[in-house]
Amino acid sequence: EAIRRKEQLRCHDLAARYYHHILMNTEAGVPAMRYLQERGLTLSTIEEFQLGYAPDRWNILLTFLKKRGFQEGFLEQAGLLSQSGNQPGRYFDRFRGRVMFPIHDGQGRVIGFGGRIIGQGEPKYLNSPETELFQKGRHLFNLHRARQPIRQRNRAILLEGYMDVITAYQHGIKNVVAALGTALTSEQAKILQRNAGEILMMYDGDRAGQDAALRSSEVIAATGGMPRVTVLPDGLDPDEYLKKYGAIAFERIVEEGSVSSTAFKLRMLRNKSQLSSQEGVIAFLSEAVRIVAEVRSPVERETYLRELAGEFNVSLESLMQEMQMTVSQPK
Ligand code: CTP
Ligand code: MN
Ligand code: MN
Ligand code: MN
Ligand code: MN
Repeated sequence: EAIRRKEQLRCHDLAARYYHHILMNTEAGVPAMRYLQERGLTLSTIEEFQLGYAPDRWNILLTFLKKRGFQEGFLEQAGLLSQSGNQPGRYFDRFRGRVMFPIHDGQGRVIGFGGRIIGQGEPKYLNSPETELFQKGRHLFNLHRARQPIRQRNRAILLEGYMDVITAYQHGIKNVVAALGTALTSEQAKILQRNAGEILMMYDGDRAGQDAALRSSEVIAATGGMPRVTVLPDGLDPDEYLKKYGAIAFERIVEEGSVSSTAFKLRMLRNKSQLSSQEGVIAFLSEAVRIVAEVRSPVERETYLRELAGEFNVSLESLMQEMQMTVSQPK
């Protein structure tokens, strides 16, 4: 078992080095290198993240790793090869024609890859499958580099994607990680909470990102954390925002533009409510009160209720009563 695991780590390490070599030193890597540079990454960032390129061929990696003594079946189980559906026993490279983002465990060992297509195409990212080594829900992209900066600043910034993290890192914002393309798991939330007093979520500013932020904030809250949420303007993602406005604006929006997860939930609810009709307002307030009822601190609850009371011209007392009813009669 331990030996098998070691071999899986070894073939991932070799694959990462090989993809990286192809990107840095070969003719085949030129379009990928151009792509990454057009996206604003410097050579030193490409080095630091050990980015690579998997050429658009069927058996580049297969040949390379077979020569080093690995069996095809083993490499398939490790997630590096695929097996032909109609010709069982025929194997080929899983990643073809993709820019490769190595994914490391907490100790900095490569355990999987995300592969991005150059330009347009589906799927945009192809990731390693779930394997013994790589279990998406237990790892965070960039954790091994970000752990110290997270501890130093006592804050972890959770972003959505690989490029968000890499661009932030390049801009000197190093306490950044990403969940691996899935909803945040409680295990990931716990890892962050062990390292930081504050978890700040900055997901893409589009609808999908906001919905994901909502779900992730629930997970963090359920594991005992108090997440904050930063919403980026104009549907931008952190990578796009940084390129457009720079690191100083980014730091400012983190400091000044982030809200508690309760305020964020209220904002999301407001966005989808019909506040032009009386029924709509009543429905909004009754749902809003449910959200506030989940807040532990009485002072905080009152603050939210006061705000709502003032804005919708109802009394604080009636909102308080409504909240009492909510608590005594769960939905
Ligand atoms: N993702 C994935 N598989 C996909 C699409 C997305 O695993 N088919 C994951 C990736 O980790 C990706 C993240 O979800 O980085 C966020 O998705 P998205 O916002 O669509 O991609 P970006 O990170 O913005 O990618 P890019 O900037 O390269 O277009
Ligand atoms: Mn190198
Ligand atoms: Mn997105
Ligand atoms: Mn994005
Ligand atoms: Mn993006």
